[in-house]
Amino acid sequence: MSAVAYDLLIRDGTVVTATETARCDIGVRGGRIVALGEDLAAGKTVIEADGRFVTPGGIDSHCHIEQMSAVGIMNADDFESATRSAALGGTTTVIPFACQHKGDDLAAITADYHARAARGAVVDYAFHLIVTDPTSKTMDDLSRLVPQGHGSIKIFLTYDAMRLDDEAVLDVLLKARELGALVMAHAENHGMIAWMVKRLLARGHTAPKFHAVSHPRASEAEAFTRLIAMAELIDQPVMIYHVATAEGAAVIANARGRGLKVYGETCPQYLFLTAADLDRPDGGKVICSPPLREAADQEALWAALQRGDLQTVTSDHAPFSYDAAGKLAAGPDATFKQIANGMPGLLWRLPLLFDAIVSQGRMDIRDFVRLTATAPAHIYNLADRKGAIAIGRDADLVIWDADRRVPLTDDLVADKTGYNPYAGRTLTGWPDTVVRRGEVIVSEGAMVAAPGSAAFLPRGGGEAARPRGVAAPEFDPVRNFGADLY
Ligand code: URP
Ligand code: ZN
Ligand code: ZN
Repeated sequence: MSAVAYDLLIRDGTVVTATETARCDIGVRGGRIVALGEDLAAGKTVIEADGRFVTPGGIDSHCHIEQMSAVGIMNADDFESATRSAALGGTTTVIPFACQHKGDDLAAITADYHARAARGAVVDYAFHLIVTDPTSKTMDDLSRLVPQGHGSIKIFLTYDAMRLDDEAVLDVLLKARELGALVMAHAENHGMIAWMVKRLLARGHTAPKFHAVSHPRASEAEAFTRLIAMAELIDQPVMIYHVATAEGAAVIANARGRGLKVYGETCPQYLFLTAADLDRPDGGKVICSPPLREAADQEALWAALQRGDLQTVTSDHAPFSYDAAGKLAAGPDATFKQIANGMPGLLWRLPLLFDAIVSQGRMDIRDFVRLTATAPAHIYNLADRKGAIAIGRDADLVIWDADRRVPLTDDLVADKTGYNPYAGRTLTGWPDTVVRRGEVIVSEGAMVAAPGSAAFLPRGGGEAARPRGVAAPEFDPVRNFGADLY
């Protein structure tokens, strides 16, 4: 072995995976991890980690980038600003959406998202396909786009402009099954929400705090139950997005207990904020759907993450500035219904979770790695390259300053919203150095990567998306009088 064996050597870190921690060196060549061990030979670049935690780069598998919202307002971020904030927060892979709005050509808009990401992104990316208009042309497009590396399809059960009715949901589930793609869903009961919104607005209850009231708690559990029933009928795995209530988490736990391939995620806003935050003068900043809930829900979500009933924590980064170009497009007195849903989170996700899980001791640091990197890599079929520190994997790495105390302020914001939903808290632990495929992209907290330097990650649906092979009675030829329904 020559004196300079590695392009990059990270020396003497405490290397953390979802199952182990070990103090060792990491040798990187050609963008990949090629050695783990003690006293490795020199590298062209050497970073002294000196016992600090080294974790896999985060994977944020639910974030909206350069996407038009359900109420027709464009995200504040472009791919450059969104992925810059991701990287500064320790995330090295994102999976945003190629979002079809009704009438859009799915193939054309997917090509457009690719072009924009290729120009701007600084962290690696894949795409989920959002289907809102499942015409025969869209279904044909899916047949081409999924094999081209877009192994997951998102649907909405609510939002006037986005939602599918139950028949259309079944069509998409069946198409996904045929293509081996995972289906993810925003699942809330549309009718309950629409009915409550009308009653609240008619009585003059327009302030942001009424957003939580307008989404009855039961709308989540009902929609989860209905989605899971449809997925079970088709024998198609599903991921349920942004779980916010204890009842919703219980529905998922129950389905998984019955052996169904149902996955669930939650987001920092549901772990760290509550509906009381909507009752601030600037409560519109934290309007998102499903809405923020209660402290008891937070505890139920943490328990569900600990047990594995929920597998990942994503940001659901949905960035809108808090002004006339964004959340307040309908004016300073916009009703809760007129304010675009969503908040920024790409930068805050890992530091918030590190502080809660590692610094405050909610779980083990290996759980932090599992929830933020390893589980999403497996669920979204990126695990051959991403989500772990292991020989052969991409060298996507974060070196933490575990003692650094960081007061969260709007000044830290790197996205284009201009505000930090978590301002006022102080976190302990911060990503200091971030490495993407062996290249340092964040050094001492500063971005050093060029826009457009990231890579697209083509992927199929993989194991998580594979049907169980358990046909519902209606799809079982032995029990359906021989009808061929697949
Ligand atoms: O409020 C949210 N979460 N906005 C983003 C779009 C979505 O519903 O996922
Ligand atoms: Zn959603
Ligand atoms: Zn979302």
